Amino acid sequence: MEKDVKILAIESSCDETSAAVVVNGREVLSNIIYSQIDIHTLYGGVVPEIASRKHIEKINQVIQAALDEASVSLDDIDAVAVTYGPGLVGALLVGVGAAKAICFAKDIPLIGVHHIEGHISANYIQYKELEPPFMCLVVSGGHTHLVKVTEYGKYEILGITRDDAAGEAFDKVARAIGLGYPGGPKVDKLAKEGNPDAIAFPRAKINENEYDFSFSGLKSAVLNYLNQAEMKGEEINRADVAASFQKAVTDVLVEHTVAAAKYYGMDNIALAGGVASNSSLRAAMKEACDKEGLSLYYPSPVLCTDNAAMIGAAGYYEYINGTRHGWDLNAVPNLKLGER
Ligand code: KG4
Ligand code: ZN
Repeated sequence: MEKDVKILAIESSCDETSAAVVVNGREVLSNIIYSQIDIHTLYGGVVPEIASRKHIEKINQVIQAALDEASVSLDDIDAVAVTYGPGLVGALLVGVGAAKAICFAKDIPLIGVHHIEGHISANYIQYKELEPPFMCLVVSGGHTHLVKVTEYGKYEILGITRDDAAGEAFDKVARAIGLGYPGGPKVDKLAKEGNPDAIAFPRAKINENEYDFSFSGLKSAVLNYLNQAEMKGEEINRADVAASFQKAVTDVLVEHTVAAAKYYGMDNIALAGGVASNSSLRAAMKEACDKEGLSLYYPSPVLCTDNAAMIGAAGYYEYINGTRHGWDLNAVPNLKLGER
């Protein structure tokens, strides 16, 4: 039997400081997440400078907590996987610096991981039987990618957003209807009390690439609707606005993902990223998959939002594929999927 591979994973690309110990890419021994959300809420969004400072304050404690909870020491760790992009440069540098220090001191391999590859790989933790190929919709605060996962670590991007990410649209609409930050979960909750067919918001079509997305027109339509109602002195039903906006987003996400899965003959669809927690998206995607005879996978909410366990899962397959980074590994804020 092959020896188990124990990976220490570190994630610090945005406003979560996280460390995890993952065995063979699928078994999570610990997944410690320190969220800075309370601090950033005061400013209505993530303040990069504050995020970096909080990461540097917390990173060693979070790493130690992950080792303790897994009942291992650094001597038991085979490699360190760390998010090196995309994300906030100062925030990423904290994780990359910490990972390098450990690898240097312990003389073990350093593996830089793409943040989106991490989100996709969260599904491997949740579903031990899931293997490529599958179609994956990655929807987070910073990204909206429709990705064909052909093999472990091999990705073909079929569609991306031309402007706002899906989560960004949720956060902006939430702010406009006075729900505060982070908006996604709050819109999700309020929408349950509203009528999704109350207001006809637009669904953008991109002619050049049928799988691309665009959410800025939808966001503007919501803002216009709110402004006009205010000018006319009409009362706004915020739950109807939330539900109708959410339906407009999910309709497009479901349509593109299912169309791509059918076109490429894939039987399995996976969701990933913070917005994959959205109850309306999950329900609508499930309904469409059932209708088309496709299987749907999505991670539990804690594995959807930023966490280090998903980086450990992705890092394991990179490790198996032979990826090793040198001491010159740097943070790459706009790293593209599939780039080295
Ligand atoms: O993946 P993530 O934690 O961070 C990024 O890599 O961006 O995603 C955070 C995003 C935020 O925009 C948040 O509002 C959104 O995911 N989100 C949701 C829900 N939960 C989190 N959006 C819609 N419905 C939710 N239930
Ligand atoms: Zn993320």
